[in-house]
Order: sequence, then C-alpha cells, then structure tokens
Amino acid sequence: MTDTLAALYPQHLATLRERTDTALARGGFDTLVVPAGRPITKFLDDQDYPFIVNPHFKHWLPLTDAPGSWLVYTPGNKPKLIFLQPRDYWHVVPEAPSGYWVDHFDIVIVRKPADAIAELPAATARCAIIGDDHCSLQDVRPNNPQVVIDHLHYHRAYKTPYELELMREASRRGTRGHRAAEQAFRAGESEFGIHMAYLKAVGQIDAELPYASIVGLNEHGAVLHYTNFDRSAPAALRSFLIDAGASASGYASDITRTYASADAGEFQALIDSVDAAERGFVAKVRHGQSYPDLHVHAHHVLAGVLREHGFIRMSPESAVESGVSAAFFPHGLGHGIGMQVHDVAGFQASETGGTIARPEGHPYLRLTRELGAGMVVTIEPGIYFIDMLLAELKNKPVASDIDWAKVDRFRQYGGIRIEDDVVCTTGEPENLTRDAFAAL
Ligand code: GLY
Ligand code: MN
Ligand code: MN
Repeated sequence: MTDTLAALYPQHLATLRERTDTALARGGFDTLVVPAGRPITKFLDDQDYPFIVNPHFKHWLPLTDAPGSWLVYTPGNKPKLIFLQPRDYWHVVPEAPSGYWVDHFDIVIVRKPADAIAELPAATARCAIIGDDHCSLQDVRPNNPQVVIDHLHYHRAYKTPYELELMREASRRGTRGHRAAEQAFRAGESEFGIHMAYLKAVGQIDAELPYASIVGLNEHGAVLHYTNFDRSAPAALRSFLIDAGASASGYASDITRTYASADAGEFQALIDSVDAAERGFVAKVRHGQSYPDLHVHAHHVLAGVLREHGFIRMSPESAVESGVSAAFFPHGLGHGIGMQVHDVAGFQASETGGTIARPEGHPYLRLTRELGAGMVVTIEPGIYFIDMLLAELKNKPVASDIDWAKVDRFRQYGGIRIEDDVVCTTGEPENLTRDAFAAL
C-alpha cells in the first residue's frame, strides 16, 4: 500500500497546488498558511481534549498528530512544513517527518510553538490563513477568506486517486471491526463488549475513529445517534444496529449494518428488503445524478418496502406526500465523506459559493449537489420504529391506513440502517464498503 500511495502522492499534491493557486488568485493573496492546530485545554484543568488536526492541513500531508505545526504554500514554490517537535520528556514527541511525502516539502523543525513565527511570512495581510482562532500566533491570525475557502471546499468533494486509496484503507479497517462486532453480537456480548471487539479489530482507540460509534441492541436501534454502550447484555437479543467507521491518515469510513438474531425471521426479511433497496440506490450513484433526486427516489422505494411488508396500506406516492415515509425514514439518504465524516460543502452551488436548497419537507438532507466523478458519498437508507415519530403519525388522518399492530410488534427491533461509502465514477460506481467486506 505504501508503494501505491508513494506513486499517487505527487499527482495529489499537484492537484492541491492547482486548486490553491486559483483560490489564492481569486482572493488576491500571495500565500496559503495553514496551522495544524493547537490542543484545547479543558476548563480549569491541565488536561487537553483529544487533538483534532485542521482538515486543511491533513489534506496536504498524512500527518494527523502534529499540533503546533504549520504549512506554508506560495504558488510556484515548494510547500514548506514548519514541524513542531518539542523537547519534552512528559509526552511522546512526534517523530521527525519521514515517508513518501517528505521530499515534496521544505521541512523546518522548531522546538517551541512560538519559534514557528520566525518561519512564517511576515506580510500576513498577503496571506490566506485558514484555521480556528485558537491557532493565532502573534500577528499570524487566521482570516479564513470566504472566497478561498469556497473554492477549496467545493473542489474537496472530488477526491484524488491518492485520497481514494486512503479511503479504501479506511473501509478495510472499518469492515474488519464490523465483522468482529457481528461475531460479538452473535456471542451475546453487551453493547460495550461489542464496541471493545470493534476497536480491537480495527486497531484504533475511540479518539482515532472518525466519529463516535453507534452500537445499539434491540430498541436502541431506533435512536439514530445512540452512543450509550450499555454494560450488560439484554435478556433477549433480537437485533443489532452498528454504525461505526475507521480512519486512515485522516480519511474516514462510515459504515452501518443491521443484524437480526436467528429467531427474528420477520425482522430479517425487512433487513433483506432494505438491503436490496440500498443496493439499488448505490447503483444510481452516477456522474450527473442529482443527489436530492436520489434521496426523494429512496423515499418512494422505502415506502414500497413498507407497503410490501404490510406496515402501510396507502400507495408509495401518497406515503411520501403525506409524510408517512418520513416518519419511518427521518434522515437524509447520505452525505459527502472524506477527511470529515460529514464532508464540507454539501450544499455549495459552485466553486464561487452559493447554496442549493434542500427539497421541501426534507430538513435533514446533508447533500444537495449533483454527483460527479471522484465524489465519495454515503448511501444510508433506513426504516425505524421511533416512538416519538410514531406517536405523531398516529394523530394524523393517514393513521387509519397503517397496520399499528404490526408496527407496534416491530418496535422491539428498533430499526434498520444499511450504509455504504460509494465512489462516483464516469461508469459503474465503486462500493468501498462492499468491496472491503468481500475481501475479508
Ligand atoms: N455515522 C453518522 C452518519 O452515518 O452520518
Ligand atoms: Mn453517514
Ligand atoms: Mn454512519
């Protein structure tokens, strides 16, 4: 894998340079300056929160643990890395940079955060400095010019072959964890025990994962972002929903699977239908496909599944129209993914900004752009039995067209979500998740 990354990295860097050249020219700036970030200390404490690197920094180089370091790029010049390697015997000090990427940078090592100032451009007004306020160092204060950020964020949706390779690796790690988690579920482990099995198989601690894992048994599958990790297993195990990802050099995978226990055949049948629907949506990830149209299409297909399984008696069209499908599928079909699990610029109309509104009645959709080759998106349909939404539905006139006895019986299973990470190409989509599961 390292050889592949080494071969792909120069083109990745060339792409970033090209995008940055345009972004800086648009904003009238000479230089891009990107702090990796500083650790944030807890209130009235001497402990820091886990360090999360600035995505604009890790876009350029595979360093996720380099607090106090800086990237400086002036078009036409080799990018410069100011690398903080403190003298410290209390903590593990970051190793001096090494690997396939180092020859592409001028690297300066500094020993104290403030020493970076001598290496940063003096004419800060000529710099686009992208970071949070927390990173300010004397006069070098992030100004985050919108015109520069708009250009970079819009194009960030299109991954380079180098980035895709890292996302394949993130998927391989995630699916290893998912396989172990399924085994732990079948062995009767608690949510906490399943999560421990997941982490061990992935080889990452919680702070390294791209998001907090969702591990829900039985009814807990109905809580969209359930992260409680019950320490003991329920008396009866009926169902299991796991939404968990992994990281590779700062790139994310975001994977959900739902399982039924061996004696929950009716729930397994519903899982199979959602799985088939999901594969159909993945097949529609094509260059030129409008993502919001795909989301609305998913509502119709899932309403068909609800009808087929006898939960509702109305047509799929009227189920979507009357909000019935939204009571069972109350979130978006998916989102862009990359260095952030919910990638930026999901609504951006063009490289110069603007917003593409969500379709009316779909307040939680996170991506309204048209798909293009190189984008990576999640496809994550679901059907849930959520007490709060079902109570609201029961008060609507359409309630008479719902088989409440059947709906009530399924509350014990919580819900179903199936989520894959999919690369849009000019032809067939590449399913990072299913490819990784198949290779296990
Ligand atoms: N894991 C959060 C999501 O699926 O979007
Ligand atoms: Mn997701
Ligand atoms: Mn997810």
